[in-house]
Amino acid sequence: MLKKKDRYVVAVVGATGAVGNEMVSVLEERHFPFEKLRLFASERSEGKIINFHNKGVTVEILTEKVFEGVDIALFSAGGERSLHYAPIAAKAGCVVIDNSSAWRMDPAVPLVVPEVNPQDLKWHKGIIANPNCSTIQMVVVLKPIHDAAKIRRVVVTTFQSVSGTGKKAMDELFHQTADILNFRDIKPVVYPHQIAFNCLPHIDKFMEDGYTKEEIKMVNETKKIMGDGSIKVTATTVRVPVFRGHAESINIETAKKITPNEVRAVLSKAPGVIVYDAPEKNVYPLQTLTAGKDEVYVGRVREDNTVENGINIWIAADNLRKGAALNAVQIAEELIKMA
Ligand code: A2P
Repeated sequence: MLKKKDRYVVAVVGATGAVGNEMVSVLEERHFPFEKLRLFASERSEGKIINFHNKGVTVEILTEKVFEGVDIALFSAGGERSLHYAPIAAKAGCVVIDNSSAWRMDPAVPLVVPEVNPQDLKWHKGIIANPNCSTIQMVVVLKPIHDAAKIRRVVVTTFQSVSGTGKKAMDELFHQTADILNFRDIKPVVYPHQIAFNCLPHIDKFMEDGYTKEEIKMVNETKKIMGDGSIKVTATTVRVPVFRGHAESINIETAKKITPNEVRAVLSKAPGVIVYDAPEKNVYPLQTLTAGKDEVYVGRVREDNTVENGINIWIAADNLRKGAALNAVQIAEELIKMA
């Protein structure tokens, strides 16, 4: 449990990565109560300087000994590092908020989106999991609809940016785009196929049943966060040549009838959601709009009249912020409120 203090020692593990970098920015913007910020990465990054509140913070090598005296550690350095170091950090008295998928489905680890299930923070034992980026933005929108009309089934297709894969993938999209426009040959490295000017229906590994791990994460994590195993979810996850921001097309079937106007009304009062829905003026959520923003944008709200109680929506959010860094920092802020 986090002890009540005026100021906290906070660590970012994986500080040089796409999400880690965003974590540092979000901590700075939200005026997190700091005693000290410590930044960790691999030996490749030792000595790098990262700017924080107009001062340079030096990146240190991650080792088993670094967690002594750290109150809160935000991890985003890949699943292997999380599996190994999170229990070591928790044992040293630090509360870990882990952005990888390593601990998400562990029944002893809460999986939290503060707008949806902050109550689950009460039972953590030192490790709290930050959900998958596509799942976070979806459940922020599903929860108010579920409370109003009880969701029975969700069919989601995602349009996920390359920053969800990490910094190397962002570089790959950048260089491939430039190479193709300059008639140079390309050689995909991060993805199995060309990502520039292309969409890949393939995120994470394929499982035996033909679904990808990303799709299975969306199914299982939604049930755990919403605290309702009866919600049926099926997903198709697609990587698109966008640097930042994930969009999702979501079809929702509810037990109780809910009209598009009622959906807009419910969502306009929901925390962390902006209803952005005036198609006659070309107003609908876009990844370019949500880059750098905190909220999940919802638009294209329509009735699906092929089923008894159906709704179609289109959502977009910044995967590095609400989908990762911001959600992790919001969890830390909730912990401080509860301390
Ligand atoms: P480094 O930059 O030193 O490789 P991304 O997901 O954007 O690729 O970022 C991954 C983050 O995880 C980076 O900060 C990276 O540090 C860090 N990381 C990768 N491997 C290790 C490791 N063995 N020990 C500590 N940090 C690591």
